[in-house]
Amino acid sequence: MNRSMRVLLASAEVAPYAKVGGLADVAGSLPKALHQLGHDVRVVMPAYPMVTQNERWSVRPLREFLVPIHPSWRETATLYTVESAPVPTYLLRVGAWFDNATESSKIYAVDPRAYIAFCHAVVQMVAEMADEWTPQILHCNDWHTALIPVLLRVKQQPFYSAIASVYTIHNLAYQGVFERDFFAETGLPETLFDIEGLEFYGKVNLMKGALLFSDYVNTVSPTYAQEIQTPEYGEQLEGVLRRLDAEGRLLGILNGIDYEEWNPQTDPHIPAHYSADDLSGKAVCKAQLQTECGWQPDPSKAVIGLVSRLTDQKGLDLIKAIGARILQLPVQLVVLGTGDPSYERYFRALHKRHRAKVHATIGFDNALAHRIYAGSDMFLMPSRFEPCGLGQMISLRYGTIPIVRQTGGLADSITPYDAEREVGNGFAFRAYQPEALYRAVEQAVQVFGQTERWSRLVKRVMQEDWSWSRSAGAYAELYARALEARARIATTTAQPAVR
Ligand code: GLC
Repeated sequence: MNRSMRVLLASAEVAPYAKVGGLADVAGSLPKALHQLGHDVRVVMPAYPMVTQNERWSVRPLREFLVPIHPSWRETATLYTVESAPVPTYLLRVGAWFDNATESSKIYAVDPRAYIAFCHAVVQMVAEMADEWTPQILHCNDWHTALIPVLLRVKQQPFYSAIASVYTIHNLAYQGVFERDFFAETGLPETLFDIEGLEFYGKVNLMKGALLFSDYVNTVSPTYAQEIQTPEYGEQLEGVLRRLDAEGRLLGILNGIDYEEWNPQTDPHIPAHYSADDLSGKAVCKAQLQTECGWQPDPSKAVIGLVSRLTDQKGLDLIKAIGARILQLPVQLVVLGTGDPSYERYFRALHKRHRAKVHATIGFDNALAHRIYAGSDMFLMPSRFEPCGLGQMISLRYGTIPIVRQTGGLADSITPYDAEREVGNGFAFRAYQPEALYRAVEQAVQVFGQTERWSRLVKRVMQEDWSWSRSAGAYAELYARALEARARIATTTAQPAVR
């Protein structure tokens, strides 16, 4: 296990360069943690103009090459490196497919063929770079990079057959499903439009391809790894996922958070620093957050933060159903996020209607996110499903007590508070019902009213460890297993295995 491995991690978003959600945080922080364990991990992402043209990053072109995709489609790719990155970070420009991504909010507005081109380019890049560096493991993430593990096998070249592949599902709700005729664009042989391939109810499903062709698949929490094998959470891939599990190829590894970025003792974005030993800075952060929201600083009000993509996944309909009642409790709600227009409208309207109690910012604002994590007393995350969730871990680090629905990674990280024994690190409910959420908030507010008890809770959760030090080793083990599996296949069959 101590052997150093060469890993190339591919992701459509990587923090701090481009970020929409938790995928970026993981793609930014896991490689650093693995690097600290002694592994040679490198990262590749599309060359968005927001990165290549940003003076904050020093970006240098490395080489140019051709990417054949299918007989009537090829692209010129340019490989760049971000010289200031903590681990070697490559940016791939493929034709002009990503050139409109001038800010994070635009990265997913590209034509989906961009990802086809990107995946082919990554595979080509590995061959082009063979003179200096070859990964032993290609680690792909979510549907945008799902074609890579498929291409590695269909190439049927020993060079590619030797490279193990690991695929991480950060969110099963986005699978990259397209109409049948899109298949021709993938450059894959027609035989793979099959139930044992990428065919999915008459359409094309890129993630399904990755599930079938990767050596190992994992998702970002043990509970979600189980949940996705049921029809309720499986998004119609539960059958494939059950099969992977039966073959021992499906794992759940809980994410960690970047303890350098998220540190209340050093965070440059918050007005005062603090630690479990001295919480006075947290009181300052809260007072300033209240002021920023246009309220009188008032320690007796429980400030509830919500920083989230505003999508159905996040359980926002529960809040919609019960918002007015929650606001009758002695609470104030601070919201930051973008997403579904109907939720954006809802929170804007709530803000207008209850200015003294609700403040909503619709947009991306990293510094404000930090101020909310630090300045809130509680953090709301009533997710319908949650592969892992990072907000609850960040909250714990900042002494902000999560109120969560017990699902996926939330169930794996939050233990319900038990007043008698004073154990647990959050407030939780299980049934996906507004009333259940209400009761959890009510309980949190009640405990908040007992100042001493609350501050003991805050101090206790701040001492928990949610850094990558818990999980980076589990990824290293997964890589090692994938390598072994690959070595076995490469020696026992002349043909690369397509499973
Ligand atoms: C997605 C999931 C979230 C997870 C993150 C990183 O955003 O919705 O639960 O924490 O990916 O893996």
